Amino acid sequence: MKIIIAENYDQMSKKAADIFANQLKEKEDSTLGLATGSTPTGMYKHLIEMYKNGEISFKSAKTFNLDEYMGLPENHEQSYSFFMNENLFDHVDINKENINIPKSNVSETEINTEVERYNHLLDNSEIDIQVLGIGRNGHIGFNEPGDAFTKNATVAELTEDTIKANSRFFDNIEDVPQKAITMGIKQIMMAKKIILLANGKSKSEIIKATITGKITPFVPASVLQLHKDVTIILDKEAAELL
Ligand code: F6R
Repeated sequence: MKIIIAENYDQMSKKAADIFANQLKEKEDSTLGLATGSTPTGMYKHLIEMYKNGEISFKSAKTFNLDEYMGLPENHEQSYSFFMNENLFDHVDINKENINIPKSNVSETEINTEVERYNHLLDNSEIDIQVLGIGRNGHIGFNEPGDAFTKNATVAELTEDTIKANSRFFDNIEDVPQKAITMGIKQIMMAKKIILLANGKSKSEIIKATITGKITPFVPASVLQLHKDVTIILDKEAAELL
């Protein structure tokens, strides 16, 4: 694991954006694994800036998002597809046909078909670089702590802690979806290169457990210790217990 401690959130975001930009410069048709949440928004801002300056293009890139809530209309402003349009896709030259995100507007009876569809797409692709945030409970994607590491995309029941953490984006905690489709841990681990970002004090304990603790599905991110090419980029607060 390579660990970079940045001065602050913006520096963390810039370093992550530089790694993504280099990937695109080296291979224009890279497959990018993307995340939502508050952590990567700064990185996306830097990438948009680099695109506008003519440094990079997304024209030939393909993307896979880690996860999507279940039961929200696609244009709901908390759906991850809305988030990605707002924070990246609408501002760069990506071909919308190359964007892959699980559908959020599927009913209970359609969920398994949607999971299969996403697994099929992932089975036929190879992610060159995957960006990850981390939940305070160690989740990556929506792979919550449990007795086993997940393999392929699945339906995840969000834990109380995750629902509480994500309620900051909704009017009421009751509005937070309780289920999501998430890429599985095995699929995340198959990405050629992984970058995990974390900022702020609230992530410091889980970052310590992820990097220095034992590898256990009760800290899903700890599995990253086994990956050949992981870079963890932290701000000073997230790194304070290392
Ligand atoms: C989002 C995702 C989640 C978040 C995590 C941290 O696509 O996969 O694992 O990365 O919940 O969220 P923030 O960045 O909001 O602290």
